[in-house]
Amino acid sequence: MRKPIIILGIESSCDDTSAAVIKDGKILANIVANQSVHEQYGGVVPELASRAHQQNIIPVVDQAIKRAGITTNEISAIAFTRGPGLMGSLLVGASFSKAFAMGMNIPLIEVNHMQGHILAHFIEEEGKEFLKPSFPFLCLTVSGGHTQIVLVKDFFDMQIIGETIDDAAGEAFDKAAKILGLPYPGGPLIDKYAKEGNPKAFSFSKPQIPDLNFSFSGLKTGFMNFINNETAKHPDFIEKNLVDICASIQSTIIEIVLSKLKKAAHLHHIQHIAIAGGVSANSGLRNELQKLKQELKWELFIPKFEYCTDNAAMIAITGYHKFLKNDFSTQEISPLPRYSINSI
Ligand code: KG4
Ligand code: ZN
Repeated sequence: MRKPIIILGIESSCDDTSAAVIKDGKILANIVANQSVHEQYGGVVPELASRAHQQNIIPVVDQAIKRAGITTNEISAIAFTRGPGLMGSLLVGASFSKAFAMGMNIPLIEVNHMQGHILAHFIEEEGKEFLKPSFPFLCLTVSGGHTQIVLVKDFFDMQIIGETIDDAAGEAFDKAAKILGLPYPGGPLIDKYAKEGNPKAFSFSKPQIPDLNFSFSGLKTGFMNFINNETAKHPDFIEKNLVDICASIQSTIIEIVLSKLKKAAHLHHIQHIAIAGGVSANSGLRNELQKLKQELKWELFIPKFEYCTDNAAMIAITGYHKFLKNDFSTQEISPLPRYSINSI
């Protein structure tokens, strides 16, 4: 009988420390330690993130191995996030993985974080059959650090056809939340309050950016000015209108994102559409996508919630596909904070 391929995946690009185990493409464990230390600062503090990764990494890996019910000797290879991300954070995962590979005498596999978000669509679960996207498909990758539309031709051939020229969609959510006095990360809170509010209560001007690119910095400034003007007139404006403000800013962000996705699908004649990244957890975005699916006859792929935000399962599945191709790294490898998916 063939020996199973067991990949230990490590993710530490931003503020989540995660380890996962995948056996022959099927998930056995996916452990994520979130870092609450950033909540009070309104954003991720890089120095604090790397310190927290250093504290979390061994317990997280230990838990993943135990949850998977395997021994370290059974691991075929270790895959880690090489970039893009915060240098100090990436260094913790890369150093751990290099040492683990050397100590266990197993191959080391570097993974592009954005490729991981996209290949999260291929994570299989024991006993659960599901339809996977077929190539070529378009993936809208919307997270705290990125907003891209990627033409995915194969597991290893991906091309960015549109991206943000300034802030990411997740950043737009988080910055709007910060302006409203909500803790970081504010995206999930805006989502929660928006469910109760009227998305047409307030309107914000949308950017006029050519092609398939995005911009969110103007929206942030417009939103800040609006809130400052209103609170100057009525100090309790936010408190009284929180759900309507959240619903309105959320629907504006979604409209900006989806108008470009529709344009990309049309231009490339592709109806297989996937979404990835933390913002793909947003319920308003998911609802609007379901409407487009009906309207435009899209085949729509939305990952399970736990594979939307940063996780090591997506790194392990990418590592698995690279293992099948014998695509290994050497011990000389170092993190790449700016690592484009175009150069994988
Ligand atoms: O992919 P991710 O976990 O980390 C990065 O690689 O950035 O994405 C985190 C981002 C944060 O900006 C967070 O506010 C946003 O995803 N996010 C959401 C929701 N859940 C997470 N934004 C809107 N609605 C949500 N439900
Ligand atoms: Zn991410």
